[in-house]
Amino acid sequence: MLKSHGCGELRLSHIDQSVRLAGWVHRRRDHGGLVFLDVRDRSGLVQVVFDPKAAPQAHGVIQEVRNEWVLAVEGAVARRPQGTENPRIATGEIEVRATSAQVLNPSRTPPFYINEEEQVDETLRLKYRYLDLRRSRMARNMALRHRVVKFIRDFMDAKEFLEIETPILIKSTPEGARDYLVPSRLYPGSFYALPQSPQQLKQLLMVAGVEKYFQIARCFRDEDPRADRQPEFTQLDVEMSFVNQSDILALQEELFTALAKAIAPEKRLLTPFPRLTWREAMARYGTDKPDLRFGMEVHDLSQIAGGTEAGVLRDALAAGGVVRGIVAPGCSYYSRRQMEELAQVARSKGARGLVTLALEGEQGASLSALTAEGVRSALARYLSLETVREMGGRMGARVGDLLLLVAGPESVVSAALGALRAELGARLQLADQDLLAFLFVVDFPLLEWKEEERRWEAAHHPFTSPHPEDVEKLETAPAEVKAWSYDAVVNGAEISSGSIRIHRREIQERVFRVLGYSAEEAQARFGHLLEAFEYGAPPHGGFASGIDRLVAIFAGESNIREVIAFPKTQSAQDPMTGSPSPVDEVQLRELHLRVAHDEG
Ligand code: AMO
Repeated sequence: MLKSHGCGELRLSHIDQSVRLAGWVHRRRDHGGLVFLDVRDRSGLVQVVFDPKAAPQAHGVIQEVRNEWVLAVEGAVARRPQGTENPRIATGEIEVRATSAQVLNPSRTPPFYINEEEQVDETLRLKYRYLDLRRSRMARNMALRHRVVKFIRDFMDAKEFLEIETPILIKSTPEGARDYLVPSRLYPGSFYALPQSPQQLKQLLMVAGVEKYFQIARCFRDEDPRADRQPEFTQLDVEMSFVNQSDILALQEELFTALAKAIAPEKRLLTPFPRLTWREAMARYGTDKPDLRFGMEVHDLSQIAGGTEAGVLRDALAAGGVVRGIVAPGCSYYSRRQMEELAQVARSKGARGLVTLALEGEQGASLSALTAEGVRSALARYLSLETVREMGGRMGARVGDLLLLVAGPESVVSAALGALRAELGARLQLADQDLLAFLFVVDFPLLEWKEEERRWEAAHHPFTSPHPEDVEKLETAPAEVKAWSYDAVVNGAEISSGSIRIHRREIQERVFRVLGYSAEEAQARFGHLLEAFEYGAPPHGGFASGIDRLVAIFAGESNIREVIAFPKTQSAQDPMTGSPSPVDEVQLRELHLRVAHDEG
């Protein structure tokens, strides 16, 4: 071994020991003869001193050495001279006095600094990802990811789950995204699909009698990447037989609680995890993944609004809509421009506009101190002081606050207020940073109406069981059918999703029918599953949790790219290897493919 120790491991207890180190030059300082190199490896960094008098050979060797060269060094650990200690690094009390050195490999000047945090263009970082991963932030994130996955594997093993690998080349398993297809060489015109998730396979493992399955599973979805979405990502995928919803939620709560304790012991949790129905979550937070690290709940003002002269409010109600609002605390001073920015957020979610009511006056005073002149709003002349006080009272507002109202169809109002709540929470830094606010959202609708395509779509996926008491409404009132499905959310991010599944052929066939599949189509696409259900399929259910999102939360990163070793860019490319890329004509021919280049 070239190394006797890791650079970052050395302490006062190693003084006078002779050590062999190997790593990268992190930083170089020349001090009239003496040369100081910080040498870095995976364990951290240490200062190595090269003295031309004490070790002329070693000093000679490192004359040309620059940042990121790879070195092997031998030397003795010594206490740093008094006054030169560096309390910011773990090895800051000692240094290594070099006796010999060898250059293992030189390095070109890197395209960005490895030893400093700086803003670097994303494409450049990903083109040189092997250098980007040398930076301390990324090295930390990779180690954290390892610990999270290791913890999960140990936890699941202790609970007697079997980890079983499922194939990557399969038949399409819909999760609502586009499939990645792989052409078959042996069967012209036929394709494998990469799994959007192992959903059907894990259900078939339940039919196989596995009872408790898990997998750290790769999933592939051809959709545009976002901060929390990559075309290729990793799930903790879980399935169990003979369980009900509360068993699965209890398992998740135990897992996430233990994981948080192991990985982020300094954070508090909401215990037990709150459980909101989907309806409640939408009504109170305007989203199915609320960030519960702050309040700012949505309040319904429809009744009060109905008694006013304000046309925009009354018209929305008359059309069957609602009027709801949130309070931006202490924001009555907001300028016209700031209010316009908020209105833009509301409009981006389909709202016609945003009604703002600034309650000006003595900051924090009760609403009885509010005067008619204090109400700054385009609607002021349609709303009596009493009405404004009543609205503010309903919302728990004080003088100095800004009321934000949206009127329209319920789904649009919810989405707009949910987005405004998130925007204001970020602007006003309302989130309690010491909290990991886990919660469950339950009772999602089974189906969603797709207006453009004029058809019903599975809200989760087509294998989710309807609530037994709603089964009879499948054909007559599809919108009212609740699903036995649940999400786990933390700090506003959906980190897991699951359901109790259908395990009887006739129910699965009915759901396929409602989703618009003919009997032939259902047979062609899902015949294997339908058939399996006829061979003693046990009742079963499960969930999948986004590992990338979980790790990002623990790492304090807002983009999951930062916790994936080799992610794709925002435009789904890999600048390092240059994928996707064209292939040879020969290869295409073998696969029976021809590329139809678009004209012009
Ligand atoms: P779902 O599609 O909701 O459910 O995915 C489960 C969890 O995976 C994460 N996730 C993603 N993470 C990164 N990039 C993506 N593109 C991406 N898509 C999803 C999220 C999400 O909550 N088979 C079902 C699970 C089940 O029913 O058991 C499924 O895949 O954290």
